Amino acid sequence: MADIKTRTTTKRKRQDTETEVYLMMSTAELANALPNIVTASVPGPKAKELIDRRDAAVPKALCGSTYPICMKRGSGAMFEDVDGNTFLDWVGGVGVLNIGYSHPKVVKAVQEQAEKYFHTIFNVYVHEGYVSLAEKLNDRMPCKGEKMKTYFANSGAECDENAIKIAKAYTKRGGVICFTGAFHGRTNLTMALTAKKTYAQGMGPFPSGIFRAPYPYLYRAPKGMGEEEAISYYLEELNRIFDEGAPASEIACMILEPFQGEGGFIPAPIAWVKAVRRICDENGILLIADEVQCGNCRTGRYFASEYWKEAGAAPDIITTAKSIAGGMPLSAITGRAEVMDAAPAGTIGGTYCGNPVSCAAALAVLEVMEEEDFASKAEHIGQLAEKGFCKLAKKYPVIGDVRRLGGMIGVELVSDPKTKAPAGDLAAKLIANALQKGLLLESCGSAGNTIRFLAPLVMTDEQLESGLTIFGEALEEALAEDLPVASKAS
Ligand SMILES: Cc1ncc(COP(=O)(O)O)c(C=O)c1O
Repeated sequence: MADIKTRTTTKRKRQDTETEVYLMMSTAELANALPNIVTASVPGPKAKELIDRRDAAVPKALCGSTYPICMKRGSGAMFEDVDGNTFLDWVGGVGVLNIGYSHPKVVKAVQEQAEKYFHTIFNVYVHEGYVSLAEKLNDRMPCKGEKMKTYFANSGAECDENAIKIAKAYTKRGGVICFTGAFHGRTNLTMALTAKKTYAQGMGPFPSGIFRAPYPYLYRAPKGMGEEEAISYYLEELNRIFDEGAPASEIACMILEPFQGEGGFIPAPIAWVKAVRRICDENGILLIADEVQCGNCRTGRYFASEYWKEAGAAPDIITTAKSIAGGMPLSAITGRAEVMDAAPAGTIGGTYCGNPVSCAAALAVLEVMEEEDFASKAEHIGQLAEKGFCKLAKKYPVIGDVRRLGGMIGVELVSDPKTKAPAGDLAAKLIANALQKGLLLESCGSAGNTIRFLAPLVMTDEQLESGLTIFGEALEEALAEDLPVASKAS
């Protein structure tokens, strides 16, 4: 039963006070609710007010491109905004909410830890949660080798930066190879590794010794090449770095995302990964898998690198963050002991790294994800969503490509399926229309023309169906707006 509450609101327009009776869903009901917009449009009046306050209080760079949504509470894959609108979330905090909003077991773990102590600085003294979590990740992480070691940082950028430090310490080399489309963060080093330079405008100078090779984007492989030919081409380009960038003997590591996120939701083909692993082995280069976005059950395995390991191409180091602690700030760096032990004392760690409350949250997330087999949930959701998107692609040829690994799906929009010209404007309209119907979507890719599907893995089948319906309607409306794009009729 919904709780019936009475509240008094001041209606700004009418300048009088009236009593409004509304039904407030329980947390469990919200988790099973469907999208429902109750205001005339989004944002509603309370959201508008908060957005105005934000614009006055917060730097412009954090205001311009965000959605007009102000959060009140979340449950499962759903959240309610300050005006009582209910949204289905297919963004999931950009990969943070694989376990959904405020999972009760994670909430309990956080509360219990907060009552004991919030903080120890692990560089100075020990807490049990840090050690237990490191032990569990050492057992779980599909890195190359037998005995693993793990340590923690606070964010995705920090764990990637730490992985590079470890690789430099182990190999005693300075060079790093990264890839087109990569996103590794916003610190100075990770801005340099990140491909899209709008993330680094005016922020240089950047560290030297960073070389970029093309990531295997098969949908956009050059000159109409088939998969095999394209993979050879991408490998040739990678090898060219050793002639034209730096000798292989000066490269410490290669860092790549098993399923590229920000760059356009692009899977790294296993045949290419195997060849990259070979190149690394032949040249004493470490392979780092950045699983900040694709880790923690998103891809149908606990870590996407499990697919690599099964193919005999396990990475040396895995970094992960985002969903690891269900929204508490935490990231992890794992590799075999001899590699991880190479960093000299003093070079790693930090004040908040491996915070006790974050570790408690992460231990609870891990337990829930293992007990409830979240990797299978990702595969289930992924299959249903892929089916829905492919059905829409038959009706709307502007859906040029649907690519998936487990529950991580990219839906690429093009203005013409033949030329594959990216339809970034169409994607923006689709997102805006979906928002007005209660579905939260986000784009990615250098042209912003790929919709990234990162719904919490606790989403019900009914919610998924309603999301697909909204997606279709929002696309139909976007196409009807005066855009130079191909529709089925054209
Ligand atoms: C693959 C990948 N690496 C690193 C990062 C950086 O993470 P953070 O924003 O926590 O620094 C992100 C963030 O989206 C990411 O997707």
